Amino acid sequence: MDAPDHEADETTPWSALHRETVARLSVAGIENADAEARWLVERAAGDPFRLVAEQPATVRSHHHWRLMVERRERGEPLQYVLERWPFRTLELFLDRRVLIPRPETEVVVDTVLEEHTRVGGPVVDLGTGSGAIALSVAVERPGTEVWGVERSTDALAVARANCTGLGRRAGSIRLVEGSWFDPLPDALVGGIGVIVSNPPYVSDDEPLDPVVGDWEPVEALRSGADGLDDVRVIVAGALAWLAPGGALVVEHGADQGPAAADLARSAGFSQVRTGTDLAGRDRFLVARV
Ligand SMILES: C[S@@+](CC[C@H](N)C(=O)[O-])C[C@H]1O[C@@H](n2cnc3c(N)ncnc32)[C@H](O)[C@@H]1O
Repeated sequence: MDAPDHEADETTPWSALHRETVARLSVAGIENADAEARWLVERAAGDPFRLVAEQPATVRSHHHWRLMVERRERGEPLQYVLERWPFRTLELFLDRRVLIPRPETEVVVDTVLEEHTRVGGPVVDLGTGSGAIALSVAVERPGTEVWGVERSTDALAVARANCTGLGRRAGSIRLVEGSWFDPLPDALVGGIGVIVSNPPYVSDDEPLDPVVGDWEPVEALRSGADGLDDVRVIVAGALAWLAPGGALVVEHGADQGPAAADLARSAGFSQVRTGTDLAGRDRFLVARV
C-alpha cells in the first residue's frame, strides 16, 4: 500500500474534496460524476455527506479517498472501488473475485421467495458468487435451510465474508465448494424446495461491454457456444434433487427464454414458464416438478 498522503492538511473540508472528485470524474468521462463523487466521499469519510461536508478530512481518510478516486478514474467499476453495494435488503462486500450483483437478479429472488412460500423446504443457490441470492433468502426467510454452492475458492471467500458480516441474520446458511450439485449432501436428494441459479450464460463469441470484460471474472460470465452449457447441466441435474412440487429458478439472457424452457420440458419438468425483468425482457426460467 502507498504511504499516507501527507499533502492533505487537516483543514481540507470534504466539500472541497467532493468538488475535486466531480471535476476529476467528469474529465475521466464518467456520466454520473456528482452522485459518484458523493458516494466516494461518504465511503472515505464514513458518514453521510451532509454531516461531513464542512469537516476536515483526516490524513488517513484523505488517503483512502485519493486511492478510490484514482481507481475510478482508471475505469474500475464503482462497486469494486467502494467494496460494497446494495442488493435487496443487504449491503454486500464485493471485490474483483465476484460478479457485481445485478438488479435483474433482485427480481429473480422475488420468484424464489414466492416458490418457497408454496413448497417450503431447503433452498439451494448454485454459483452463489458474492452470496447475493443465498444471503437474501436467508435474511428474508429466517429459519430456512439455505445452501450456497460455488466452484471458485476466491468467490467463496467473498460469500463467507458476507455471511460473517450478517452475524446471526445469516441463520443456517451453508456455503460449499464444488461444481453445481457435486458438493451437496446425499440427504438433500429429492428434498430441496427451490433450486435457484444465476449461472454464466454469455455465449463465447458475444462481445462483452468493456467495463464488464475488463474487470469482472470471465468464469462467472461465459458458457459455451450458445451460452447455455451451464444452464443445460443445471436443468438436467435439478429434477433428481427437487422435492415433489419443488421449483427450479434459473436466470438467463434476454434471448434465451424459449431455449431454456425447452431444456426444462425435455428434462421432464411439467410446469414451465419464463419470468421477465423490470424492463419486461425474458430473464429467468421457472420450472416446477
Ligand atoms: C453470473 S455469476 C452469479 C453470481 C451470484 N449468484 C449473483 O447472482 O450475483 C455465476 C457464478 O457461478 C460460479 N460458477 C461457474 N461455474 C460453476 C460451477 N461449475 N459450479 C459452481 N459454481 C460455478 C461462478 O464462479 C460465479 O460466481
